[in-house]
Order: sequence, then structure tokens, then C-alpha cells
Amino acid sequence: MGERHTVRLEPVGIEMEVDEDETILDAAFRQGLMLMHGCKEGQCAACRSFLLDGEVDLDRYSTFALPDYEEQEGYTLLCRAHALTDLEVELMNYDEEVLRSGVPLRTLRTEIAAIESLTHDIRRLVLRLSDGERMKFHAGQYVDIAIPGHEGQTRSFSMANTGSGEGEGASELEFMIKLYPGGHFSGLLDGEHLKVGDELEVTGPYGVFTLRDSSPRRLVFIGGGAGMAPVLSLLRSLAEQGSTRPATFYYGARGEQDLFHLAELARLVEELPEFLFVPALSEANGNGWRGEAGLITEVVDRLEGDLSDVDAYLCGPPPMVDAAIALLTARGTAESHIYFDKFTTSAD
Ligand SMILES: Cc1cc2nc3c(=O)[nH]c(=O)nc-3n(C[C@H](O)[C@H](O)[C@H](O)COP(=O)(O)OP(=O)(O)OC[C@H]3O[C@@H](n4cnc5c(N)ncnc54)[C@H](O)[C@@H]3O)c2cc1C
Ligand code: FES
Repeated sequence: MGERHTVRLEPVGIEMEVDEDETILDAAFRQGLMLMHGCKEGQCAACRSFLLDGEVDLDRYSTFALPDYEEQEGYTLLCRAHALTDLEVELMNYDEEVLRSGVPLRTLRTEIAAIESLTHDIRRLVLRLSDGERMKFHAGQYVDIAIPGHEGQTRSFSMANTGSGEGEGASELEFMIKLYPGGHFSGLLDGEHLKVGDELEVTGPYGVFTLRDSSPRRLVFIGGGAGMAPVLSLLRSLAEQGSTRPATFYYGARGEQDLFHLAELARLVEELPEFLFVPALSEANGNGWRGEAGLITEVVDRLEGDLSDVDAYLCGPPPMVDAAIALLTARGTAESHIYFDKFTTSAD
């Protein structure tokens, strides 16, 4: 245990105790406060905040998330910052509805219930919680899975299911995982390594990619690749609630061989009264594809007009998310109505 300090979070006026040995974000999780975050490792900038008073020490981070000039101006990354003194921090990006909605973090043992191919490079992984345990989480959240044989190393994966099972939480967690050859975790799903019945440890739930129930605005979802996972979780949860909110899901893939869950998405179009699913191929190449073609942000640009009255949820590779944020803000979406999970990897 290191020295303890008090951190005051503005403008919400919350005070919390922080140990020098833990990051400010971890201290918040420990005390049930869901501050804005994404990667939790200094790559995505979702936790970027302003240091009004006091001194911090930062663990390693990417200068894409916090350029040097911003660090000198007083910005900091709460997932990397350790308090050296008492602090006053201004949250740049916060949501009072989410801040106090945190589900306590737990580390649980699970057993692999299924590994299936969704496409040539995306696997469906289902983990069953051991010992009859259940995990409560909000649709759109993620867990960290410990990499077997690599002590202390984890990878984040978003649940595609909803967690609302019988009100007590889910007994299974469903994921969509893109395979990276040589990837420390995804590489284990190549059919040779991890098998049904093997044990994996998960910690969570994390994440703020969750529905703001009080919002009346139209929903615009933009996703690519395995970024379908938390969007499908949100859509499944809208269907479970019998929601009538208008929603459009723009989904980007390379070719037709990269599309999946089309039957379920077609069912959701039937079930949700005002829901549109717009798949788009960036490499359609005139192979008989009659849907939208181009990068997913080009398609949104073409099909949408003014976007000042929407809640937007973006998920997938960081360049896709950054391009979508730029498009949405140019079309009038308030930054506070844009929610995103960047699927950052160690290669970022
Ligand atoms: C909040 C959050 C949620 C996420 N949810 C999901 C999810 O639901 N599904 C999902 O599939 N992923 C998700 N990710 C990404 C995931 O956590 C891993 O980073 C990803 O699976 C790669 O991990 P790995 O261990 O397989 O590869 P690593 O061991 O981290 O990488 C090993 C090597 O693989 C290669 N590699 C890895 N990434 C790339 C890349 N982008 N481009 C080129 N080469 C690369 C590189 O050679 C790299 O050095 C999420 C990330 C975050 C932050
Ligand atoms: S940079 Fe802090 S959560 Fe991603």
C-alpha cells in the first residue's frame, strides 16, 4: 500500500480516496464509480481529464491519446495517473446517469462452452460461469479475459448478449473475437489451442457503451468487424425492453464473406418497430452485391442528413471510430451524445 490522497472530481463534486499504488480510474472502480473509460491502458483518450490542482505520475501511454502539449497544459489520463498529492480533477467527459450506475467489479472463473466460426476470421466464444455464478452487466459492457500462460496479462472483449437473464445476471458471456495471427489471446482460438471445457478467468464488467434510457433521441449505431458485439447486445436489449426508439445500424465489412448474423438482424428489423440495418461493403467489387458500397462513414455521409438530434454509438477499429466522430460532429451531433468503444490492440 502506498500513501493515500483525496481526489475531488469536478463538476460533479465527488470526493474519493486514492492509493498512490493504484490509478485514479482503478480507485474509482473500487468505489463503484463508473468514470468514462475505454482501453484502460492509455491508448484511446476516453478517460482524458483536466488536472485543476495537484500532481500525478503517469504510467506509459500513447501520445495519440495524450499529446505532449496537452500534458503540459494540464490534461491527464485517469487510467494511467497515480496521485502524488491531493488532487482536483475536472472530468471532460462524464455522464451522471452512468457515473453511479456501476456494477461492482468481480473476477470469476469460467469454462468455454462454445467456440464457433462466424466468418473466416471472427469467432463466437461463449463462456459459462463456473460454480453456478452469474454476472450482472449492462448491455454494451465488456470484461477483461486473462490470457492463459501470461500472468497478469488480459485482453478486453465486449459481450454480445444482454446480461438481463432472469434479473440475476447472465450465466453465460457471449463474444465475437477477431483472429489476429500470433495474437496472444485471439491466436488461441485457432482451433489448435483453446477447446470447449477449458477454463478462463474474467474480470468485469467495464465500459460505458451503454444505453441512456432517459434519452428520447433516435439511435445511430456505426460498427465494423467484431465491433458488432456490443451493438448487437444493445439491439437485443432494445428488443427485450420492447423499445419503440427509432434506430439505424450501419455495419461496415470488406466483402460479403465478412457479414454474419444476418438472419438475427433481419429478425430484429421485424421486431423493433423503427429499426433499419444497413450493411455496407468496402470491397464490393461489383460481385452482384446490391447493398451499400464504400467505407461505412462514406455510406453514413451519403444516407444521413442533419444529425443534431441523435445518440450515436460507435464501435470497432480506432480509425473507423475517429472518422465517424469527425463526421457526426460535422453534422451537428453533440460530443456528449457520442458514445464509443475503440477496439484498441497492442499494435495501436
Ligand atoms: C474496450 C475494448 C473492447 C474490445 N472488445 C473486443 C471484441 O469484442 N472483439 C475483439 O475481437 N476485440 C476486442 N477488443 C480488442 C482486444 O482486446 C484485443 O486487443 C485483440 O483481440 C488483440 O489481442 P491479441 O491478444 O489477440 O493480440 P496481441 O497479442 O495484442 O497482438 C499480437 C500481435 O498481433 C498483431 N496484431 C494485433 N492487432 C493488430 C492490428 N490491429 N493490426 C495488425 N496486426 C495486429 C500484431 O502483430 C501484434 O503485435 C477490444 C478492445 C478494447 C479496448
Ligand atoms: S486512455 Fe484511458 S481509458 Fe483509454
